[in-house]
Amino acid sequence: MPRFLSAKPDARLIPLPWDTPLAQWPIEHLVALPRGISRHVVRFVTVDDQVYAAKEVAEHLAIHEYRLLHDLMRLGTPSVEAVAVVSGRVGADGEPLDSVLITRHLDFALPYRSLFSPGVRHDTVLRLLDAMVVLLVRLHLLGFMWGDVSLSNILFRRDAGAFAAYLVDAETGELHDRLTDGQRAHDLEIARVNIFGDFCDLEAGGLLDESLDPLGLVETIESRYHELWNELTGLEEFSGSELHRIESRVRRLNALGFDVAELDIQTSPDGRTVSMQPKVVDAGHHSRRLMRLTGLDTEENQARRLLNDLDTFRARRQLQEVDEAVVAHQWLTECFEPVVNAVPAELQGKRDPAQLYHEVLDYRWYMSQHENREVPLLEATAGYINDVLRTLPDEAMSGDAMVQVEGGGRRLANPYDPSMGYADEDDEDEGPAHDPWEDAAAQADAGPDGVLDIDALREKG
Ligand SMILES: Nc1ncnc2c1ncn2[C@@H]1O[C@H](COP(=O)(O)OP(=O)(O)OP(=O)(O)O)[C@@H](O)[C@H]1O
Ligand SMILES: [Mg+2]
Repeated sequence: MPRFLSAKPDARLIPLPWDTPLAQWPIEHLVALPRGISRHVVRFVTVDDQVYAAKEVAEHLAIHEYRLLHDLMRLGTPSVEAVAVVSGRVGADGEPLDSVLITRHLDFALPYRSLFSPGVRHDTVLRLLDAMVVLLVRLHLLGFMWGDVSLSNILFRRDAGAFAAYLVDAETGELHDRLTDGQRAHDLEIARVNIFGDFCDLEAGGLLDESLDPLGLVETIESRYHELWNELTGLEEFSGSELHRIESRVRRLNALGFDVAELDIQTSPDGRTVSMQPKVVDAGHHSRRLMRLTGLDTEENQARRLLNDLDTFRARRQLQEVDEAVVAHQWLTECFEPVVNAVPAELQGKRDPAQLYHEVLDYRWYMSQHENREVPLLEATAGYINDVLRTLPDEAMSGDAMVQVEGGGRRLANPYDPSMGYADEDDEDEGPAHDPWEDAAAQADAGPDGVLDIDALREKG
């Protein structure tokens, strides 16, 4: 009889065929979704409408990873959520089987293999690298030494015009009180070697845009890591007449999406020089504020965008004197909810609500520019649903999203195990995996159809 270790048990998992090796599970329990490369057998399992990731691994490793993921979640790090460890499994032949670590499937996660593919814009790539850097810096700030940073161990989600990165594989991780510079450098070196290898693999498979070179990409990651780390933790010294620099530093950190919980400020005995160093910084400046005001749980850049819209709403309605929480409630019921509720059920798997709202705002901006009038929000929503949303691939990845997302229409040899490659692997004519969203965004450079890329449009305008 298998044992379940779980803080939040899901009883629907218990009847699953635990006496069968994961690789041989009947497909009625599985869903085929995009996945990174892995050493262990990993399958996506469904019970009713919930999708879980199951990884078969030795018991002590499963428990170690379960606990670490739990700690990371408690500390508010973007990582997948540990659900259970199933151990004590015995096969039909009486032989013991490895344990299974179960995590909640991260909905709306994008497969990295399509993100760097030919045709991807340079801007997009930089944003992906930035998302990775923010994740690594956040982990290091918490004292988490990853030990196995790689593209397969990171999941990306859309975050307004940027991306948010999530940790998916904590098996080799260690949580310390704080990391030494040496430990951080070591982790960064691992990241460098692994990610360089990942990019070379993509390149060899024709899946990396030609303008991107693996070495340049990892160097960008390193330099951006140092920039961000210094901005968040660096010591700054200035003269006693420049005290405004304290305020500026806090604002800069806020703009990067971080709150300063503790700032160490010291003045020299003669008062001439001041030194300042952030001691505790927390990511999620904007998303916390939005959550407080509206209860919406979003990524950081999505929150920034929604808060801007909230401010605009307040100014337009001349509600500056009204309490912010009251205005937020009004904005939620008069703007956000009507837009999200306008999406037909069959299209809801394509974007999470905050991302959808962000894209509708972009669409409305473009449409207003194009038609030289103020387009009402719901009119823009209808246009967006028909012109954009219908043509996008599903990204929710629950149940019906299936493998076409991964292969741009190509068939996998085994849809439940993407590591086995494509059924038509030898077929040279097949294009590489592509993301139709990227196609749509790329057109923004070329013509008026690219409704999604607000930055490119602004530059043109
Ligand atoms: N909760 C989840 N949500 C979405 N995708 C997931 C989840 N868990 C795992 N995956 C996918 O499965 C892949 C393999 O998982 P994981 O990295 O944990 O396996 P692994 O065998 O430990 O890998 P490694 O070879 O790096 O040790 C990941 O790259 C990711 O794409
Ligand atoms: Mg992995």
